[in-house]
Amino acid sequence: MSNIDLAVIAGDGIGPEVVTEGLKVLDAVTDGGVSTTQYDLGAKRWQATGETLPDSVLEEIRGHEAILLGAIGDPSAPSGLLERELLLRIRFELDHYINLRPSKLMPGVSTPLREDIARGGIDFVVVREGTEGPYTGNGGALRVGTPHEMATEVSVNSRFGIERTVRDAFERANRRERRKLTLLHKHNVLSYAGHLWRRTVEEVGAEYPDVTHDYAHIDAAMIYLVTDPSRFDVIVTDNLFGDVVTDLAAAVTGGIGLAASGNINPEGNAPSMFEPVHGSAPDIAGQGKADPTATILSTALLLEHLGRGDEARRVEQAVAEDLASRGDATRSTSQIGDAIAARL
Ligand code: IPM
Ligand code: MN
Repeated sequence: MSNIDLAVIAGDGIGPEVVTEGLKVLDAVTDGGVSTTQYDLGAKRWQATGETLPDSVLEEIRGHEAILLGAIGDPSAPSGLLERELLLRIRFELDHYINLRPSKLMPGVSTPLREDIARGGIDFVVVREGTEGPYTGNGGALRVGTPHEMATEVSVNSRFGIERTVRDAFERANRRERRKLTLLHKHNVLSYAGHLWRRTVEEVGAEYPDVTHDYAHIDAAMIYLVTDPSRFDVIVTDNLFGDVVTDLAAAVTGGIGLAASGNINPEGNAPSMFEPVHGSAPDIAGQGKADPTATILSTALLLEHLGRGDEARRVEQAVAEDLASRGDATRSTSQIGDAIAARL
């Protein structure tokens, strides 16, 4: 197999620590078949130079096959700056319209859910739209600082953007055993976008007769996630609902330390980006306390995306074995990475 040409953005906080372990595992499963280029982006660069993502760097990153990202964000930067100018800019410019977030409760992993509920099985994937919704920055403020200040944050929902996301979700559902798709939205209040999402699911769904589909309001879905999570197989939803639901999904399947994600450009006209769902956790940075499993599972999504499904499944298997044997002993970030890499 050819070498994987990877752009690496380790980023801030625990980012560099977890990325080191992700690369360790990638190296082990591919027998050294990964070449990496590190991109120094994030809070430190911004502090030193005022730069978040220079155009030339973005163009260089565009030339790689895939991107592995640790975490972005630091209390020293104004809220939203690095998020918008770095992380979201990459997602938007590289057209990562599928934000893929699988949730599976693996054997040996503890969950805050009641045992009989957890035993029903949790294994679903959230297909979160990644380039629209309220994330486009389409808003503004009026009469700032006065008692009549107003803020708007407009959610953008294009038929084109919804349809390609819904189609991708149906394709994924069609490849899974249960072949079920659930749209999460809030059409009883968000009438315009809600109806467009619903109509699109109905229309695209007609092309997938083997996939059953249903709908749940996002608020009710929060109840189902903790009372009856086995009802979900593939969830499709907008950018902001998807952000919220995937944190709860992570919490019920072992915590944010295990939650992986892929920011995917399915057409492959730009590299896709793989990252743990968690943030930079500055409070524990540099102490070897971060769990690198989410990043390691993100490398499995990366391998799968690059058509290297056998290697992806080997990584997942090694993680599953490690999780099943974890017990109570506290291990450092690199010990967990070593143990998983040693199984490959
Ligand atoms: C995530 C994060 C990001 C998001 C933030 C950091 C912009 O919460 O990847 O889930 O909202 O998408
Ligand atoms: Mn989030």
